[in-house]
Amino acid sequence: MSLSGKAGSEVKRVDFERPVNVVEKALIGQHPAIMKLRALIEKVAPSDVTILISGESGVGKEVVARAIHSMSQRHGLPFVPVNCAAIPRDLLESEMFGHERGAFTGASGTRQGLFTAAGGGTILLDEIGAMPMELQAKLLRVLEDGEVRPVGSDRWTRVDVRVIAASNTELAAAVRKGAFREDLFYRLQVVPIVVPPMRERRSDIPLLVDHFLECIQARTPAQKITVTREAMVQLWSYDWPGNVRELENMVERLAILCDDSTIDTRILPPALTSKPRPAVIEIPASLPAGGVNLQSLVRELEGRLINDALKQTAGNKQAAAKLLGLKRTTFAAKLRRSGVIAPGAADDDKDDD
Ligand SMILES: Nc1ncnc2c1ncn2[C@@H]1O[C@H](COP(=O)(O)OP(=O)(O)O)[C@@H](O)[C@H]1O
Ligand SMILES: [Mg+2]
Repeated sequence: MSLSGKAGSEVKRVDFERPVNVVEKALIGQHPAIMKLRALIEKVAPSDVTILISGESGVGKEVVARAIHSMSQRHGLPFVPVNCAAIPRDLLESEMFGHERGAFTGASGTRQGLFTAAGGGTILLDEIGAMPMELQAKLLRVLEDGEVRPVGSDRWTRVDVRVIAASNTELAAAVRKGAFREDLFYRLQVVPIVVPPMRERRSDIPLLVDHFLECIQARTPAQKITVTREAMVQLWSYDWPGNVRELENMVERLAILCDDSTIDTRILPPALTSKPRPAVIEIPASLPAGGVNLQSLVRELEGRLINDALKQTAGNKQAAAKLLGLKRTTFAAKLRRSGVIAPGAADDDKDDD
């Protein structure tokens, strides 16, 4: 009763051997919130100001931190991400600041900490809310004085590191509960950056899907995968609790499961299809007997064309405006409002030109 033989014969092979470009992960997106985020990144990157990036898990906090680093003077130097929640509490201090030989049981030699390893570069303290209170006090001192002290040492050493912190929990609430130092909180968030969840910038979903498919194609050039319009509608409608990370993993999975290099609704998991919502409205060729909602149709069309124009011009607003026969200022105003094409958005824009 052998069921052996070729398992998974319908599973397409995707070549995972080739290195993915992990150095410069681009920050993709044309949603007004992302445009604003990009402008903020450009503004804060050149200085050494401390930044607190907050947002749900998977929204791209690390992508933002890397973008800041790569646009700063420190770009050729190390970028060191440290996940404070993933390192055991009693090891975090020595991971961050290093230790002397014999500083604690098991410390057989001296060890350089990540702050020293990041020398001249940027350190990302991810999930900073998980940092124990005692360590928070030490971090504050590092931020104020620019010096670290390895565990078991009495010497302070100067370090030149830019600190970016990230949190997927509301740090202010932790401060109120007494679980996070208030002084450190204010010291960290000299510039607060909030990365919005995927469901609040749905108009970027097609762009991100294309981007992730392009990344897959770069690894498997033979495969040119397309997504049907119906499947894209479902991808657009889903709430993406795992945000961009979930979307990225979903695209990887769909690219493997699809037949004939086409992602259609049949291969979407139930979570994506169980709750269909009219995310993308069909624009009728002529007025149907039942009438239409003119405002939402016009907004839908406008949003689509704005998205397309930005896509065709690689985000150049001037060129996109020209493609649509608009003045740049009119285009900018429409773009600001174009977030309303996302389903469920407020129906509050009035045409003023
Ligand atoms: N705007 C974006 N453009 C392209 N890829 C993104 C974007 N935001 C997130 N990603 C991808 O999604 C995944 C999760 O991003 P990450 O920065 O690790 O999220 P977080 O740190 O907020 O949990 C990564 O693989 C990242 O490359
Ligand atoms: Mg992260």
